[in-house]
Amino acid sequence: MPIAMHRPQDSLSHFDSAEVQHYDSRIPALVPGYQVLHHSSAALLKTLLPAGARVLVAGAGTGAELLALHALGLHCECTAVEPMPAMLALARAKCDAAGLRHIRWHGGFVHELPPPASAQSAHDAALCHLVMHFIEPLEDKQRLLTAIAQRLKPGAPLLLSDLLASNAPWPDERAALIECAVSLGMPEARRGLMRARLQNGFFPLHEKQLARLAAASGFEAPQLFFRTLSFGGWLLRRR
Ligand SMILES: C[S@@+](CC[C@H](N)C(=O)[O-])C[C@H]1O[C@@H](n2cnc3c(N)ncnc32)[C@H](O)[C@@H]1O
Repeated sequence: MPIAMHRPQDSLSHFDSAEVQHYDSRIPALVPGYQVLHHSSAALLKTLLPAGARVLVAGAGTGAELLALHALGLHCECTAVEPMPAMLALARAKCDAAGLRHIRWHGGFVHELPPPASAQSAHDAALCHLVMHFIEPLEDKQRLLTAIAQRLKPGAPLLLSDLLASNAPWPDERAALIECAVSLGMPEARRGLMRARLQNGFFPLHEKQLARLAAASGFEAPQLFFRTLSFGGWLLRRR
């Protein structure tokens, strides 16, 4: 019987150390509404959670989720999970500088976190922004979502955003996304690289595929809360 090889490291090959250093200055042009996404997501959690709630941040990158929660005044205890040491170091430095307390840092993957000892000690919510489209195959996406579900209380929300697979040839959201990126500051010279990456470099899902994956991973049907060119954000409740 063939043995399924799990290679979670593969999803990290998209970022070299130079790209990590430029991440914060480049990402707002590449994902239109990047800051609005994070602030909307933090605002939703603020309406859903009591003070002192426990929030799992999967793929914390350079700390945008943690800083947005802080900016909105949500007092929570966060578990920040990030497999790339350079990303994690930047996130830590920014959160320390902003005076954020109550963050448990985990350099690695969500499935490596110890599972909660009881339903009471599980997380009240999770965030997973702009991570899933780096992961292939589908089984590995499911592995991440299942690992998140296993660390959440029943009924707890997961706010997830991702690149969408292009649905129809018209309107061409990918072409518009590149125009938008240039207008938001991406150098003209990077158009070709962005086009090539959008064509071959990511593993996006259609909304129906995401709904099936959510169901298979222990979540209810995704509810859209954010949409911009080629990207969406959904609220998924843990069953
Ligand atoms: C585009 S960044 C998004 C970072 C942050 N969430 C944000 O919104 O700015 C993608 C992040 O996902 C992380 N990542 C990649 N594969 C992952 C996995 N299997 N589990 C958790 N994080 C992963 C990468 O290291 C990177 O920091």
